[in-house]
Amino acid sequence: MDTNVKKINPAEMDDGDFHLAVDLLKQGDVIGFPTETVYGLGGLINRPKAIGKIFEIKNRPTDNPLIVHISSFEMLNDLVDEIPPKIEILCKKFWPGPLTILFKKSINVPDIITAGLPTVAIRMPSNRIALKLINLVNVPIAAPSANLSGRPSPTTALHVYHDLHGKIPLIIDGGKCELGVESTVIDVEQIPPLLLRPGGLNYEELKEYIPKLSLIDDQIEDNVDTKKIIQKPSTPGLKYKHYSPNAYVILIEQPENMMNQVLKTLWLKYRAESRKIGIIHTHNNIELNQDVLQDSNTIIINLTSSDGDEQRDVDTKLVAQELFGSLRALDNKGADIILVEGVPYEREGLAIMNRLQKAASEIN
Ligand code: TXA
Ligand code: MG
Repeated sequence: MDTNVKKINPAEMDDGDFHLAVDLLKQGDVIGFPTETVYGLGGLINRPKAIGKIFEIKNRPTDNPLIVHISSFEMLNDLVDEIPPKIEILCKKFWPGPLTILFKKSINVPDIITAGLPTVAIRMPSNRIALKLINLVNVPIAAPSANLSGRPSPTTALHVYHDLHGKIPLIIDGGKCELGVESTVIDVEQIPPLLLRPGGLNYEELKEYIPKLSLIDDQIEDNVDTKKIIQKPSTPGLKYKHYSPNAYVILIEQPENMMNQVLKTLWLKYRAESRKIGIIHTHNNIELNQDVLQDSNTIIINLTSSDGDEQRDVDTKLVAQELFGSLRALDNKGADIILVEGVPYEREGLAIMNRLQKAASEIN
């Protein structure tokens, strides 16, 4: 199968740009499309053939449910029997946007989408291409991230092409994803309400609207230790190995004053073994050692930011946006080992560290 890549400029698009995409979806095919978080692999929820293909193409375990993407509140009404008032407030505040909310599903949601669970995960993306596409087909679109299972999520059409060419007929290229990490997933019907997956919408921002919002394992004490989120699978997808490039990833989780020293020690070790080393450098206030910078067998991806008077230690927005692409780029350049400077567990940092913990084979 040939995989078409169709560029659409969200600032100048018209319905005609979507003809092929709409036809394919209505025929029960699946396509790649952009969202503000990562690219999705979408199929219409009322085409069982399409949903089956999503699992098959990604090589995704069938016990891992899919997120349903909507473009209007009318669509939501069909998917659920009731919208609890406390959830309605959140939808109104954060949709469209990178927030996925669990609802009790109505009979209109096929079991294959929810992996047999009584709940369905729903979000209304803010990406204009995604919204337009859902609007035009006028049926909700079930979509996981458009990567092969276990690989870093795709944040450009090229990443999707790399993983899925020959397996899908079309990828809509809407440019680089604005946020770069997947949506935040919450279940507010639990007591206390739970953050199942940290993501594009920051915990701190959500907490203003859901004061009791808890990270996994945080139910007993009020004293939030955000690191705990990563230790237990909270949502079916979290129990599988994730976000991994082929290279051996080492996450360096150290206070800023120790970071450079630990990085250098690891670098020396693998350098002595003649390994090709990739480094993802995130801390604005750390200057990499000259030996590291000048080594021809070391590839450095610099995610530090140079702007702003009130310089933060890490530009977590930038790191989130570039994280998956950086892991993929280092793979493509043949890195054997990837050393990543960990970031603080704040704002985008919570999602970044959650993904890195899962990508890493070793944490130092
Ligand atoms: O930003 C995103 O969320 C992207 C874009 C394409 O929208 N999608 C995405 O989908 O990341 P996926 O399939 O890669 O991740 C969906 C996550 C999985 O961890 C899955 O287990 C969880 O949502 N999930 C889906 N339905 C659920 C349910 N009923 N209960 C608990 N977790 C659920
Ligand atoms: Mg995924």
